[in-house]
Amino acid sequence: MTTSRSGWARIPLPGPSVATFLQFLFLGLSALASPSRAQLELHVPAGLSRLQAAEGSEVVLPVWYTLNGELPSSQPWEVPVVRWYLYQKGKQEIHVLSYGIGGMYSKPRASLLYPEPSRNMSLRLQDLQEEDSGSYRCTVFIYDNQLKELGHRIISLDLDVLVPPTSPSCHLQGVPRVGNNVALSCQSPRSKHAVQYQWERLLPSSQVFYPPVLDPIRGSLRLTSLSTSVSGVYICKAHNIAGSAQCNITLEVCTGPGPAVVAGAVVGTLIGLGLLAGLVLLYQRWNHGL
Ligand SMILES: *[C@@H]1O[C@H](CO)[C@@H](O)[C@H](O)[C@H]1NC(C)=O
Ligand SMILES: *[C@@H]1O[C@H](CO)[C@@H](O)[C@H](O)[C@H]1NC(C)=O
Repeated sequence: MTTSRSGWARIPLPGPSVATFLQFLFLGLSALASPSRAQLELHVPAGLSRLQAAEGSEVVLPVWYTLNGELPSSQPWEVPVVRWYLYQKGKQEIHVLSYGIGGMYSKPRASLLYPEPSRNMSLRLQDLQEEDSGSYRCTVFIYDNQLKELGHRIISLDLDVLVPPTSPSCHLQGVPRVGNNVALSCQSPRSKHAVQYQWERLLPSSQVFYPPVLDPIRGSLRLTSLSTSVSGVYICKAHNIAGSAQCNITLEVCTGPGPAVVAGAVVGTLIGLGLLAGLVLLYQRWNHGL
């Protein structure tokens, strides 16, 4: 007589068919009663469900399991099958990493933090890209060494990859002449997170600008009734939760001739050119007539 691990006794019986029937009965009962089922639980650090990390940095998605409440070393009879998948809205799920009976698979920038076998299957992602954002789902199946499933569980962690603003470009709108109004504009071409803008003058004297002359959302700075004292180097800083980028512009307020004087000079030049053309025509006619 042999005794199985679960404590069920098997008695040698005469006919093979009866034995088979009893074996079926035994399997059926053991499946129902699950005498050898271990209590599998997945864990993340308390209160953690969402992680944020900057583009280019690395992040660890910390997940581990316990069997019957026991931490942390795995038993020789314990065969875990672990899969990490990434789910993104409206997209096909991405197989990030897996190991177990079928061997190890991982995407290029993904790896396990601890070598297997370990009950800690924390996922490390390096050189983060914007497209790594999404919901990471970890599925764990535990088998015994006869490949009988002892349990399975799923847990999710959300990752948001933070992207700093791209380098903004600074522009001057208007003619920087004494008495005029101009606007300095600053725009970061593309940004994943809301951007705010700051303008300040560095040289020759420093000054920080605030609304209403500054529009922190659009990035524009209005300078009215210019005087030569506002000349200088102006810096715009575009920033969001992930970081910042800046550009600058040099404003030179000139005292040169006013608009009326310029217009007069232009008209004078045009009259001069007209006279010259007339003279050339006259000269040609006179030549032709000879
Ligand atoms: C598993 O690893 C993560 C990341 O290093 C760590 O935060 C966590 O405490 C570990 N779990 C256990 C039970 O040691
Ligand atoms: C202005 O911008 C240029 C290039 O964009 C940079 O090389 C320079 O250091 C900046 N100047 C200041 C004062 O920030």
